Amino acid sequence: MKVIRTISEMRSWSKEIKNNGYILGFVPTMGFLHEGHLSLIREAKKHADKVVVSIYVNPTQFGPGEDFEKYPRDFARDEKLCLKEGVDAVFYPDDQQMYGPLHKTYVITEDLSKVLCGRSRPGHFRGVTTIVAKLFNIVQPDFAVFGQKDAQQAIIIKRMVEDLNFPVEIVVAPIIREADGLAMSSRNKYLSPQQRKEATVLYRSLKLAEHEFKRGNFDLEAIKAKMRHLIETESTGQIDYIEAVDAETLGKPVPGKRSVLLALAVFFHPARLIDNIILK
Ligand code: PAF
Repeated sequence: MKVIRTISEMRSWSKEIKNNGYILGFVPTMGFLHEGHLSLIREAKKHADKVVVSIYVNPTQFGPGEDFEKYPRDFARDEKLCLKEGVDAVFYPDDQQMYGPLHKTYVITEDLSKVLCGRSRPGHFRGVTTIVAKLFNIVQPDFAVFGQKDAQQAIIIKRMVEDLNFPVEIVVAPIIREADGLAMSSRNKYLSPQQRKEATVLYRSLKLAEHEFKRGNFDLEAIKAKMRHLIETESTGQIDYIEAVDAETLGKPVPGKRSVLLALAVFFHPARLIDNIILK
């Protein structure tokens, strides 16, 4: 497995792979890999001849006062995990490679980046789309795999790829959960043992919504109220949002006719956990 630290080396490696007629799959990450990331790598390996994983904690997607400095990093461990998964190359650039001192250009996906997490984290998706666009231009993959856990991110990236005509197919892989239902996340590391126990209420609240939907209750406001009640009575988590939107457009939901994305973000300080479910 190659560890590539510069843009020029990444470009020439990728060019050689493509010239040999191989299909190149890409998994962008911020490192501190867990089973969720490994499932994305496994998904990529199903469809690709060669797989690149990028590991880069992107400063532009963190707002002031967020956890950029504290974000967990362990490259040696990540490298071992990638090797074990049969990754062909790890792209591990530093800030100087990714953002030169004169950097001024950003990619903004209007509207989609202002709802849900975008409302509480202004500028977050501008950072995400900018770094993903840069990574696509550097790695030049045939397809890239993102997790459904970051449902809004996946929708925004799909829109960006279509709007800016990137020749990259976007694959979205399912959420990977702990045995008790908590969605895997690098930020789960911030939880105290008590918070970790309480955080299982997030998935239970989503399952409750699914149950309501399955029995024909499409009253999304009532469902959200039930979820809110469950989270507030069974945990100390502070709800940032619980929202129901159209699963493709993030616009107004039409339950019973189109799939609904039910998404939530809850603070278990200092962690902010997100999770979601698609109600069909
Ligand atoms: O999902 C993530 O880990 C990040 O937002 C991404 C896509 C790697 C961009 O930094």
